[in-house]
Amino acid sequence: MRHKIIEMLRNTGENFLSGESIAAQLGMSRAAVWKHIQKLRKSGYEITSRERCGYKFSDAPDLLLANDVKEGLNTQIIGKEIYYFPSTDSTNREAKILAYKQVPDGTVAVAEEQTGGKGRLNRNFYSPRGKGIWFSLVLRPKLVPSDSPKCTLMAAVAIAHAMDRFGLRAQIKWPNDLMFEGRKLVGILTELSAEMSRITYIVLGIGINVSIRREEFPIELRDVATSLMEMKGEKISRIEFFRAVLEEFDKLYLDITNDPRGGFRRMLDEWRKYNITLNRKVRVITASTGEYFLGVARDIDADGALLVETTDGLERVFAGDVSIREGA
Ligand code: BTN
Repeated sequence: MRHKIIEMLRNTGENFLSGESIAAQLGMSRAAVWKHIQKLRKSGYEITSRERCGYKFSDAPDLLLANDVKEGLNTQIIGKEIYYFPSTDSTNREAKILAYKQVPDGTVAVAEEQTGGKGRLNRNFYSPRGKGIWFSLVLRPKLVPSDSPKCTLMAAVAIAHAMDRFGLRAQIKWPNDLMFEGRKLVGILTELSAEMSRITYIVLGIGINVSIRREEFPIELRDVATSLMEMKGEKISRIEFFRAVLEEFDKLYLDITNDPRGGFRRMLDEWRKYNITLNRKVRVITASTGEYFLGVARDIDADGALLVETTDGLERVFAGDVSIREGA
């Protein structure tokens, strides 16, 4: 109902809309309209009221409210259902609960802040209120479990495409970090629930640092993390960037759903365009044993594994952490 009121006020533009007219159109009392207006103001909407004239929309809060995100969102699968959390420990945990409740493919869980954001390799992920886009997608692709790492790469490509729309050139570090000047902008955490031969669901958790200033990061992150605002040198609308990411992901996901082989091939070609890992000296820490080795990253294969040339031959790395060494 509140969403409808906002829509009506937005459509009236600079004019006032009377409480009576809103009440009549929505089949409620004027007192009920007034209560909704109060609630909207509480959640950050600026609505001007004038005696005998009614209400006028002034400004929307910079929130990622489900209905606001959906407005003008051009997707076929992604974000048809969006669950909004003002605060939660982790959207990946919320998404797993939603997956268990059988929400449809492409459902989104998004939060203004996470109090226990999860990173890869059991690390924490800093997710302050209103400063980033912390969200998870529930996906139910008709794919085999070994295809799931490619869905992570697909998320990195979708974000790179969204950044293009905002005039920003993405740099992807294998497998899924988006970087700017050696600092991390975006982190992606994929969690899988599967049987031997089919994926039950994937929760794809994405954390995008949008407007965190260098001095706002905890001291230990200042040299390793950055934000889109620091990169662009000006503010970026979270809601517009969020819509762009969902739309770009939707395009890749549709392509892969319709033609998995061709879709993944095209997606991997895109990944190569933005990558900063290939043909660089790398140090790889393997996820399974925690051991590390040195080599030159040569390519990613059709499964999304990193091919690293070492003194002992070619190593195929499926999961791990890569740091890029200086020099080619
Ligand atoms: C990493 O770089 O280590 C992965 C970070 C993933 C963070 C995102 S934020 C939204 C989602 N919810 C979480 O708890 N984690 C992911």
